[in-house]
Amino acid sequence: MLVPPHGGRLIDRQYEGAEAEEIIKQVKDCKLLTLNAREKNDLKMIGSGAMSPLEGFMPRADYESVIDLMHLFSGPVWSLPVVLSHKYGDPEVSTGDHVGLKDIEGTIWGDMQIEEVFEADLMAEADKTLGTTDDSHPGVMYLKSLSGKYIGGNIRSIRRRETESFQNYRLDPRETRVLFRAKGWKTAVAFQTRNPIHRAHEYIQKCAMEIVDGLLLHPLVGETQKGDIPAEVRMRCYEEILKDYYPRTRVAMSVFPAAMRYAGPKEAVFHAILRKNYGCSHFIVGRDHAGVGNFYGTYDAQVIFDQFDPDDLGIVPLKFEHAFYCSKCGGMATPKTCAHDGQYHVFLSGKKVRAMLKEGILPPPEFTRPEIAEILMEAARKGDN
Ligand code: ADX
Repeated sequence: MLVPPHGGRLIDRQYEGAEAEEIIKQVKDCKLLTLNAREKNDLKMIGSGAMSPLEGFMPRADYESVIDLMHLFSGPVWSLPVVLSHKYGDPEVSTGDHVGLKDIEGTIWGDMQIEEVFEADLMAEADKTLGTTDDSHPGVMYLKSLSGKYIGGNIRSIRRRETESFQNYRLDPRETRVLFRAKGWKTAVAFQTRNPIHRAHEYIQKCAMEIVDGLLLHPLVGETQKGDIPAEVRMRCYEEILKDYYPRTRVAMSVFPAAMRYAGPKEAVFHAILRKNYGCSHFIVGRDHAGVGNFYGTYDAQVIFDQFDPDDLGIVPLKFEHAFYCSKCGGMATPKTCAHDGQYHVFLSGKKVRAMLKEGILPPPEFTRPEIAEILMEAARKGDN
C-alpha cells in the first residue's frame, strides 16, 4: 500500500471539460479576483490534491497557526502559508461572496467561496517563514510586492491540459499514485530540484534508490528567480540522462508545478508533505535544500524535520551530506564516507557553472556528465541560461 495522503484523504477540487464550462458560466456575473503566477499554480495544486488537506486558500486561523506553529489550525503539520492576496485594482470582496479567479490575461481558472478577508503583517510573515526581512531575499521581495490583504476560502480549479507545458510529464497526485502501483512500487523517494542534474544529484538519488522501490524525479517548473536555469533546459537534461544512466523500471519523472519560495528549511518540509500527496514514502533532503544566498545553514533544512513526530509527518526525510567527486576515492563521496581533504574534492556552485558556460568552458565530467554539459553549453550559447 502506498503512503496515505496528508490528512488522510486526497482532495479533489479540480474540474475539466463540461464541468469546467459550468464553473465559468456560474462566475459570469460574479466579481473576479486576479491570481499572480504563484497563486495560479497554488490554485491548481490545491485542486489536484497536491496540497491535501487544503481545500482552498488559507483563512486567518490557518495562516497564523502555520506561520507561528507550523501546523494547520485543524492539526496537520504545514510549514508555509498558501494564500491569495488582494490585488490593487481588484474589486472589494467580503465573507460569503462567490468570486471567479482569473489570471492577469483574464482567463478564468476557478472560483472561490470567500470565508474571510484579513490583513496580514507581511514582514512578520517574512521573518517567521523565511527567517529574514532582507530585501536581497527573493521571498521578501515577493511579499513586498503584495497588498497585505489576504482572502481565504475554498476553491474549485479548472484544468486545461491543452495549455500545459511538459504535457508528457504533468501527473497529478492521483496519476502518480496509479503509476507507482502499476510499477509495483510500495515505497518511492521523491527528488525535488530546481537545477540541472549533476553528479552529486545523481549520487544521492541512486543512494536513495538502494533503499526504496522507486525514484520520482520531480523537477520544480513553477516560478524561479532570475538567473536559475529555465525548466525547459533542466527537463532536456533529465531526458538525456534517463536514456542511459537509470533503470527505467525504477524511475518515474513528472513535473512539480509549484513556485520556488526559497524558504530553505520550511520549504523542505513543505516540499516533503506535498510529495507525500503524490504517493512518495521518502523525500531527499541534501545540502542547503531550497536555500538562496547565505540565508540558511547548510543542514538547517535537515534539522527542522527532527522537531516533528514521524507519524505526523508521514514521509521519511532521507538526509544527505554535501556530495562531491573525490579524486583520491575515485568516485562520489560525502564528508561521511570520504577520508580525504578538500584539495581532492571537485564541487562547483551553480553560479560558478553558469560563469564557466558563459565563457565557453565545459564543466568537468567529475561535476556533470558530458552529455549534460553539452546541453547546458548549447543553452548558454542561445542565451537560455
Ligand atoms: S533545491 O532548491 O531544489 O533544493 P537543487 O536542485 O540544487 O536545489 O537541489 C535538489 C536537491 O539536491 C536538494 O535536496 C539539495 O539539498 C540536494 N543537493 C544539491 N546539491 C547537493 C550536493 N552537492 N550534495 C548533497 N545534496 C545536494
